[in-house]
Amino acid sequence: MGLGETVTLEQLETDPYPVYARLRDDEPVSWVPAVQLWLVTRHDDVRRVDLEPDVFTGATTPSTLNRTMGTNMLGSEGPDQQRVRRITEAPFRPRDVEARMHGMIPKLAHELIDGIADRGEADLFTAFCDPMSVRSLRFMLGLEDVAWEDILAWNQAMMLGLANFEGDPAKQAPADRSSAELGAAIERVLDRLEGGPDGSVLSWMLHHDTDGDRMNRTEIVANTKLMLSGGLQEPRDLIALAVWALGAHPEQLDEVSRDRSLVKRAVEETLRWCGPVGTSTRQTTRSVVFDGVELPEGALIGAVLSSANRDPRRFTDPDRFDVHRNDGAHLAFAIGTHFCLGAWFGRHLARVSLEILLDRLPNLRLDPARPVELRGWEFRAPTSTWVRWDV
Ligand code: HEM
Repeated sequence: MGLGETVTLEQLETDPYPVYARLRDDEPVSWVPAVQLWLVTRHDDVRRVDLEPDVFTGATTPSTLNRTMGTNMLGSEGPDQQRVRRITEAPFRPRDVEARMHGMIPKLAHELIDGIADRGEADLFTAFCDPMSVRSLRFMLGLEDVAWEDILAWNQAMMLGLANFEGDPAKQAPADRSSAELGAAIERVLDRLEGGPDGSVLSWMLHHDTDGDRMNRTEIVANTKLMLSGGLQEPRDLIALAVWALGAHPEQLDEVSRDRSLVKRAVEETLRWCGPVGTSTRQTTRSVVFDGVELPEGALIGAVLSSANRDPRRFTDPDRFDVHRNDGAHLAFAIGTHFCLGAWFGRHLARVSLEILLDRLPNLRLDPARPVELRGWEFRAPTSTWVRWDV
């Protein structure tokens, strides 16, 4: 029996890192029946999967992403994907994000903290990280007309479709219904924007024209759904994970509080040490021998980004959280054709949030009475983030 066959879903959900360490050492390309994927766990191999889209494609068959949202950039490869990337990258560049957000991120952070500052304790996950993430992205995309409760509910139901690898119609039906309702809401905003542009990403996609090449409405709707599904929970989880990682290392939290030039490093080290997105899912376009293992054509691969980020072949003492680390780039946003579109936006949101939390909540620390519990392997996050501060 292969090592992968002994791996259980519960082990991965509870704490995948010891499993990854064993796989990296003894079975770096491993069939794991519990998740029905070939897991690739070494840093250089994960890079190879992401950097060779001709062999390891994001356009999987079936594609739960494309089935639920319509054909989008993460579910495609080649010229179509490159064209949509070219158009959508512009509004997510650092300068553009700041111009589009009009100081909204710090304003929102202060507003949320105003609501809790005199309490001395809170679950930051629900009181801060979640609304920061949802409301900033909604503003950035231009979906201010749409209730954020609706966006969250539709997104939640669409997740069922994304995880529906078995094609169960009972799971797909609510996902399709929500996808249609979200699509109709996006279309209403596009109707309004036909009358005149604003500074939003939706407006950019609708009006941007490179030599007669524009995104059509079907493409805009599908890719907006993808941005929501990719962008709602990850920044929330990243902020919560950064608070947890620093809180679990009080001497480093203290250092970052005193020297704010370390905030940026703290966010990057959080992404490496416990990034919120675990895998790039790909499929082989032909049979390929990989680390001595023959993968057939059509094999589904989980290139495990969070394992690559803890590979001792790449990072010194990788299980140690260290804001002074100087090891170079991590893979928490993947690499290659599908490198995260919202990477800068997510980082910016996390950095500004952390700065303002440290400014406004003196002696911020984890609540020892309500310890943080993390769950998940494809997406890993705290279930709550209880903290205390001095009032
Ligand atoms: C801050 C935390 C975030 C993390 C850790 C993260 C992580 C990732 C990763 C690992 C991928 C590649 C997936 C793959 O290779 O299969 C990805 C792709 C993507 N992300 Fe993010 N993401 C974050 C925030 C965001 C935000 C805020 C947006 C909002 C627009 C976003 C939109 C996307 C999109 C559209 C793609 C697909 C890009 C493509 O296929 O070309 N992400 N993200």
